[in-house]
Amino acid sequence: MSADTVRRSIVLRRRPSGAPDRSDFDIIEDAVPSPGAHEVITRTIWLSIDPYMRGRLREQQTYAKAIEIGEVMTGETVGEVVASADPGFAVGDLAVGARGWQSHVLSKAAQLTKVVRPDPAKGAPPISTYLGVLGMPGATAYTGVTDILKPKAGETVVISAASGAVGSVAGQLARRAGARVVGVAGGPDKCLYVQDTLMFDDCVDHRSMDLRAELAASCPNGIDCYFENVGGAVQEAVFDLLNPFARVAMCGMVSQYNQDPFPPGPNLGFVVGKRVLIQGFIVSDKPGRIAEWRKLAAPWVADGSLEYREDTVEGLENAPDALGGILGGRNFGKLLVRVGPDPH
Ligand SMILES: NC(=O)c1ccc[n+]([C@@H]2O[C@H](COP(=O)([O-])OP(=O)(O)OC[C@H]3O[C@@H](n4cnc5c(N)ncnc54)[C@H](OP(=O)(O)O)[C@@H]3O)[C@@H](O)[C@H]2O)c1
Repeated sequence: MSADTVRRSIVLRRRPSGAPDRSDFDIIEDAVPSPGAHEVITRTIWLSIDPYMRGRLREQQTYAKAIEIGEVMTGETVGEVVASADPGFAVGDLAVGARGWQSHVLSKAAQLTKVVRPDPAKGAPPISTYLGVLGMPGATAYTGVTDILKPKAGETVVISAASGAVGSVAGQLARRAGARVVGVAGGPDKCLYVQDTLMFDDCVDHRSMDLRAELAASCPNGIDCYFENVGGAVQEAVFDLLNPFARVAMCGMVSQYNQDPFPPGPNLGFVVGKRVLIQGFIVSDKPGRIAEWRKLAAPWVADGSLEYREDTVEGLENAPDALGGILGGRNFGKLLVRVGPDPH
């Protein structure tokens, strides 16, 4: 079989204990199927690697169904249509969908969203951005900031995992609202990027010996809004500094995703006295949010006023280690796996 006729899929071999790696998965090969009525075959170009994927590997169901042993791993992709039995898709079209860790994907047409082929001559962002700044992570930041934090000019907003796919956008949105934005990130390079490129007002390295004191020094007026991406020690330090009527958008707690059971929580007594609002959210709760965000943010990406950074891993076979890496902070920007070449 030639490369064009072989489908490679990554399936779950066993549930990981701690950080996932390639030994938890199998790569299987079979023939690329033919599409039935209203079905489409895409070849995957980009696969998104996201922290939520660790939750799918647990036995217990979270807000979404767990992956079964032997099942293809879930994941958002951008692909090019190579065969179609649906009038809505033609060979050569580009499509986004949650189509999994596969080189070629058989989809019902309704499972895919057709996206425009970018024209670089017109300054259009590359197709990888459909999975990052203009995709689910960007829409997540938009949801948490606009629906929950609602930052006002002059307020102090803290963003954890500040250099990452979600945090980088959340902080830039809070700055657009006129807030003073302080990032928390792992290491000097990420902190430099957060301050010099994303233009946050300050950034604290959560690996530093005295996170609490450094965060307090960066937030002399306390914290009015917190965009929570990591939990753990960062959360403890932030909660100590929250002002009365602070808002906390609970987006994720990546520091505990590899732990089983999850660590005990903080004492929330302060929430009463300070009248703090703490609200969790899942971006998929609001259908249409990604499309709404893409329309709003595409001009900002095109004119350079919304910065983003991508971190690329080559080859589908390296997706498991990439997932282990994002959970340990080894990514720097939106993490993507290059599965196949760009469209012609
Ligand atoms: N609610 C939703 O609908 C939704 C949707 C998408 C994503 N999320 C959540 O949003 C968060 C960010 O996701 P993302 O895709 O943008 O990933 P990301 O920020 O690009 O990558 C994850 C980052 O988490 C940080 N991290 C990992 N372990 C940590 C630890 N022990 N302590 C502190 N920081 C740690 C690392 O950054 P540093 O090196 O800077 O620490 C790492 O680079 C995750 O919690 C994810 O689950 C939620």
